[in-house]
Order: sequence, then structure tokens, then C-alpha cells
Amino acid sequence: AIIHVILTGGVGSRLWPLSRKSQPKQYLEIFEGKSLFEMTVDRNRSLADRVMVVGNNDNCHLSERVFDKSSTSFINIVESTPRNTAAAIAFAAFASNPDDVLIVTPSDHIIEKMDQYNEAISEAISKANQGFIVTFGIVPTKPETGYGYIEAKGDNVVSFREKPNKVTAKEFIAKGNFLWNSGMFCFKAGVLLEELKQFQLDVYDKSKKAWENSANGKLDLDLSLEIPSISIDYAVMERSKKIKVVPASFSWSDLGSFESVYDYLVANGHPVDKNGNMVIGCDTHTSFLGLKNTIFVATANANLILQKENSQDVKDLYSELERQN
Ligand code: GDD
Ligand code: MG
Repeated sequence: AIIHVILTGGVGSRLWPLSRKSQPKQYLEIFEGKSLFEMTVDRNRSLADRVMVVGNNDNCHLSERVFDKSSTSFINIVESTPRNTAAAIAFAAFASNPDDVLIVTPSDHIIEKMDQYNEAISEAISKANQGFIVTFGIVPTKPETGYGYIEAKGDNVVSFREKPNKVTAKEFIAKGNFLWNSGMFCFKAGVLLEELKQFQLDVYDKSKKAWENSANGKLDLDLSLEIPSISIDYAVMERSKKIKVVPASFSWSDLGSFESVYDYLVANGHPVDKNGNMVIGCDTHTSFLGLKNTIFVATANANLILQKENSQDVKDLYSELERQN
């Protein structure tokens, strides 16, 4: 079977205070009454036989609500604590048959040009059926440090590098044969698990144990806490020799940081002043004096003012606030 796996367990900490634990960004109904999560479900509806959601205790009811709306059934895997994407994907793979093809997507991307998207997915499925792990490559537009980079030669992946620093990212862009990793993957469940076992045995073993002891798709907290927290990009993509890339001619935006939200909003006509300052959120009258590329994020009970260049640092601020609470 072909299974669409939606990862929805991240906190979205780089978008605080827009995104909260109780109301993560992917469930905010901000696109004509739809959320990014719902759009993700709709986009893949005709491509897969089943849907599996890997989320957590705080958001599983939000996922359920989306499926209830269209009376669609889905498989709900509920983590008791986030252990990052290597473990989340491993749970989905353990819940599948080894020959099932999984299309793994985040729940917070905007994708347009559906014909191209559908085409890319069918190409990925055929490569996955040949035993490859497929990534989707986006033509980069700037030396972004929040993404993974794919060094491509045709559909072969020469190397994969997760979140390089600025200097390295600039080198990659200058070389010209690097693509951004879109964060979507396609593979046979058994192939991914074999690679995880080879490159990150501890994650494999402990995820397997946690999964085998789960009840109705709910993971046990103590067993989960033993799983090392590492993303699939570091655990498998940087090391596997079975990676292929499908170039993405669909349009893609990851609304993962304020910088990408800003770019997306600018492209869609959201107001920005002549010095590049922008208000995101509940717009009161705000003026910027002597400031450039400043983003003012206003919500009902918390505000954030940041320089656009500092968008990746919001994660650290979030952790600091978590510690204080
Ligand atoms: N279930 C579950 N559990 N989901 C998780 C967890 C977890 O512990 N951690 C993250 N996720 C979900 C997030 O909600 C998101 O949908 C997806 O997994 C990817 O996690 P991110 O935290 O958004 O990853 P990233 O943006 O830093 O990096 C990834 O995506 C980039 C493109 O957007 C990488 O794959 C990069 O290589 C890629 O360029
Ligand atoms: Mg992301």
C-alpha cells in the first residue's frame, strides 16, 4: 500500500508567539478557513491508500477534528514526548508493512502547482519501489541555514548536508549543484528501517521497543524518553548511499521561521514599509522609526520584535522562556 505519513509533532518554536504548544501553527485556520495541516491532508488525498499521523498528546484531538470534517479514517500515532523525526518516522515504518511505500510530509508547508506536485510524487513512488530513499530538491534562492542541502548529480545524491553554517551555505549556493531538501521523503518502510538500523542502531532499537510496547498507537513515556533525539536528516540522509533526489518543479514554501513567513507574505501582498518592516499578527497601528527589516509579531498575550536576520534564533529564545516557566 501507499501510505501518506504526516509529521506533526514539532512545537514550531521558531514561530513563537504565533505558534504555541496548545495551538501549533499548522492547526491555525488562516487560509480561507483551512489550516496548513488540513491542506496537507487534501493535497495528498488522491495519492495514497491510507493516512497515518504522527503527532502528540497535545495535538491529536486537533488532527482528529480535521479528519472528522470529511469522515475520513486515519491511523493516529501519538507520542508522549517529542523524540525528533528519526523516531517519529521509525514509528510510522514499524506500523507499516516493509513493502509499503511511505510518503512522509511535514504538516506546515505551502505547496502550489498541483500537477507538478503529483508528477513528482509518482516519480518518487517508482524510485521508492526500486529500493531508494527519495528526497525532493528545491532550487535554492539564498544561503538559508535552516534547511538541508542536497549535492545533486542528475537524480543521484553526491552528499547531503543538514543545516550548514552561513559560510558553508554560501559556498553551496556558489557551486550551483546544490538543492534544498524539502523535508518530504518517500521510501519503502523496510528500506528506511534497514538504513536506520545500520546508521543509528540506538534509535532503531529503542524506537522498536517503544513501538512494540505502545497501546492503540500511544507511545509509553518512559520508553520514549530513552530514544535519542535526532532528526532523520542527521541520522539517515547524511549517511545513506540509497538516496535519490527528485527535482521539485512545484512551488514550495516552508513557513518554518519568521523570515520564510515574511518572504511568503511579501510575495502575497502583505503590507511592508519602505524599510522592510512588517507587522505579523493582530495589526494595531504600528509605525517603525529608524528601523530596517524589523518584524513585529503581535498576539493577544505576547509580542516579539526581531530583526529578520535573527529568525533562526527564535528557537533559543523559546527554550529560554520554557526554562523560566
Ligand atoms: N511526530 C513528530 N515528532 N513530529 C516531529 C517531531 C517529533 O518529535 N519533530 C519535528 N516534527 C515534525 C515537525 O512538526 C515538522 O512537520 C517536521 O517534523 C519537520 O520538522 P522541523 O523541525 O520542521 O524540521 P526542520 O524544518 O528544522 O528541517 C527539516 O525540514 C527542512 C525543510 O523544511 C529538514 O528535513 C531539512 O533538511 C529541510 O530542509
Ligand atoms: Mg520545518
